[in-house]
Amino acid sequence: MTFRVGLLGHGTVGAAFDELLADRAGPIEASTGLRPELTGVLTRSAGDFEDILARSDLIVELIGGLEPAHDYVLRAMRAGKHVVTANKRLLSQHGEELYDTAREAQVQLRFEAAVGGVVPVVRVVHETLAAAHIERVHGIVNGTTNFILSEMTRTGASYDDALREAQRLGYAESDPSDDVSGRDAAAKMAILARLAFGAAVQLDDVPYEGIEQLTSGDIAYARELGLSLKLLGSAERIDGGVAVRVHPAFLYGDHPLASVGGSFNAVTIESPTITEITLSGPGAGGSQTASAVLGDVISAMIPPPTLPAPAIGQPLVTDVESAFYLHLEVEDRPGVLAQVAEILGLQGVSVKSVVQKGLGDDARLEMVVHRVLESKFLAAVELIGRLDFLRSGPRVIRVIEETF
Ligand SMILES: NC(=O)c1ccc[n+]([C@@H]2O[C@H](COP(=O)([O-])OP(=O)(O)OC[C@H]3O[C@@H](n4cnc5c(N)ncnc54)[C@H](OP(=O)(O)O)[C@@H]3O)[C@@H](O)[C@H]2O)c1
Repeated sequence: MTFRVGLLGHGTVGAAFDELLADRAGPIEASTGLRPELTGVLTRSAGDFEDILARSDLIVELIGGLEPAHDYVLRAMRAGKHVVTANKRLLSQHGEELYDTAREAQVQLRFEAAVGGVVPVVRVVHETLAAAHIERVHGIVNGTTNFILSEMTRTGASYDDALREAQRLGYAESDPSDDVSGRDAAAKMAILARLAFGAAVQLDDVPYEGIEQLTSGDIAYARELGLSLKLLGSAERIDGGVAVRVHPAFLYGDHPLASVGGSFNAVTIESPTITEITLSGPGAGGSQTASAVLGDVISAMIPPPTLPAPAIGQPLVTDVESAFYLHLEVEDRPGVLAQVAEILGLQGVSVKSVVQKGLGDDARLEMVVHRVLESKFLAAVELIGRLDFLRSGPRVIRVIEETF
């Protein structure tokens, strides 16, 4: 059986969605019993909305902006079709009308890609944490500004230079005003506040400040004190009300959002029942956003899928590469490091850093080695463990080297 999908918009996200749908239709059919198929595509120059609507079970809206997206989404739901959209502007300005229409028409309106790109914050706030009393949602919900601030921090660049670099790399549009003014983040926080607190917050209700006024001096100050400077969106319950706003803020180094760099987004959700959950990931991009859109389509197709039978022919990999930390308690005599290095070298293990610490009975070697197959490293450690100058067995800890 097929599940018919009509696509409105074939730009950055729409084209990526088209491609992804064709690629994933087989596996989706295998796990759901329904094969999603595109019934038509509407752009400014091609396709007919009424025709696509009549032939679809679900409409994906990836035009963006208010009109005609607003009109099409309403008409689709009133015709009894589910709708998936990535349009934060539409939801933050006409949300109540759209949610009401979806309820009345008994169709699903899904919009995971409208907030946080691929980070599944809508689903988590709305579904996974439906039973939690959420006190606060705050986060970095605009990848462009996070990229600019990260560049200013990393290179000491001015705001203007970092913006130019973001534009050169495609992280910022030629007219970046929605992003750098904080307005885009404000739209997303309005949507999150509606989900988290059930409060009918709209974009116009959210005060926002952007990053245009920030200087490299502000960033240097942050760095000296071990702080990060981020554009923070927050929505919280205060004195029986709800406060939603967007502004730059310094964060202490151990804050879960402090280390979120580049164009990544991250959202922290706080509730007494769950303490705190932080979700992070790519904030935008055609294929990334398309994957969140397709996830919504699958959710709308059927109740959550059961786990499909395991795919055959996928062996479990047990010997994987990792970097390692190696700690050796050694006797304090010449030649110790040379012997250890020789054994590591014979197994193809290359040393990234090494320090010798302590004297006499306290002498030890601490080293980090580059990524290597676990079997090779452990073989080397086995040989090192037999050396007569070791005062106790070697200690090994894996090192996660990923940087984001
Ligand atoms: N880009 C991202 O990384 C990203 C991330 C998260 C969310 N989003 C959201 O995803 C949505 C789409 O963004 P996008 O970047 O893919 O936009 P885009 O590249 O500008 O593409 C827009 C598409 O809509 C079509 N369109 C515009 N006006 C139309 C009209 N009046 N009637 C019919 N079709 C029309 C365009 O047609 P033509 O092809 O004829 O020009 C184009 O195919 C927006 O709501 C955006 O906020 C985007």
